[in-house]
Amino acid sequence: MAIYKFRKKCRLCSSTKFNLVLDLGKQPPSNAFLTKNQLKKVEKKFPLRLYICKKCFHLQLRDVVDKKYLFSHYLYLSGANKPIIEHFEKYANSVYKKILKQKINPYLIEIGSNDGTLLEKFLKFDVDVLGIEPAKNLAKISSKKIKVENKFFSKKLAKKIAEKRKADVIIANNVLGHIDDLDDFINGILKLLKNDGVFIFEVPHALDLLKKLEFDTIYHEHISYFTVFSLMKWFKNNNLEIFNIEKQKVHGGTLRIYVAKKNTHEIRKSVNNFKNQEIKFGINKLKTYESFSNKINKLKISLIKKIIKLKNEQNKIFGYGAPAKGNVLLNYCQINNKMLDFITDTTSIKQGKYTPGTHIIVKSPKIISKFSKQYVGLILAWNYKHDILQKEKKFLDDGGKFLIPVPRPVLVSTNNKKY
Ligand code: TMP
Ligand code: ZN
Repeated sequence: MAIYKFRKKCRLCSSTKFNLVLDLGKQPPSNAFLTKNQLKKVEKKFPLRLYICKKCFHLQLRDVVDKKYLFSHYLYLSGANKPIIEHFEKYANSVYKKILKQKINPYLIEIGSNDGTLLEKFLKFDVDVLGIEPAKNLAKISSKKIKVENKFFSKKLAKKIAEKRKADVIIANNVLGHIDDLDDFINGILKLLKNDGVFIFEVPHALDLLKKLEFDTIYHEHISYFTVFSLMKWFKNNNLEIFNIEKQKVHGGTLRIYVAKKNTHEIRKSVNNFKNQEIKFGINKLKTYESFSNKINKLKISLIKKIIKLKNEQNKIFGYGAPAKGNVLLNYCQINNKMLDFITDTTSIKQGKYTPGTHIIVKSPKIISKFSKQYVGLILAWNYKHDILQKEKKFLDDGGKFLIPVPRPVLVSTNNKKY
């Protein structure tokens, strides 16, 4: 496959009728951190544009960057964040209690098993587990404790695994949004799942993206932004149905969706509740997307103005956290190494590297203890803002400030804790 292609048809309904919602400009892949040597080379950049399908209202990118290019060495580690580890602990306990406990010799498969953090939580129960993880570095980390297939999930791989044993539960967290060929994916699920099996997945809710202006969660790796509205139609067309939905707090708001073969599980009220909430907001109206686009433009201008003002007042500004979405925000707002001195991040493999497109150095957060007044931390990992503000109480008490960019730029200090 070419490294970049433009998609003509909707991923869920094959329609060719779209509206452009938001143009975030040409951007490098948001996880493509650079070494000092790589700074000298020209970076590959690709258009980043959000579209809405006028037929099924599936929100998606049509600019597709080859997944092998994006994911072969993935720097996101599930095990690097405390809130995620806690989320997975509860997740495993809940899936075991609700589903796996009732099965004899249960078998669980996770697609996109990352560093194995979630699957490991199932080992204390009597559950056989298999991880499927395309990134070599991640598969290697997790294979010390669990069985891992170091491949992209596909119908072909599903068939091969299913020949030996089908799954009682298939889990895929933050995976569906990455998949270009969703037809192949859903056919793989149909092959691999037992007749009474359950497919559970977590995806960010597009309703949150629209309501809370989380525009920086739009990047090349995320090619779909799901609503219950469009998913229900899609599953129905594939003889599956959503039977339960739970809202989770991680990643700034996530949906956990339970899917099974038609007429095998009782459908909970939650499904229609979520769908009705979406319709009430207007997710099936094109003007909702125009209004979203206007608000993002305003946010960008307001953030740039705030940063320039802080700079003019002799503040030193640094980024707090270097998540992929931080890179989208920095590139879209053109905040580069002239505006930010450095970025701190807890992930050791990011430290010493430079942010894609904006070339800001990433450092260990240890250095924060040396700062106080005249320092402003731009919280790029804003989904963890509560944890961060608690953790950095000393920095704030010593006169440091934080700037939270989304959903509207707010400056937080000991005197102003409203955010
Ligand atoms: P995520 O939003 O994709 O989970 O990524 C969060 C990033 O922010 C990850 O690279 C780790 C970093 N981070 C910090 O540097 N400090 C923190 O306190 C937290 C919560 C995250
Ligand atoms: Zn569509």
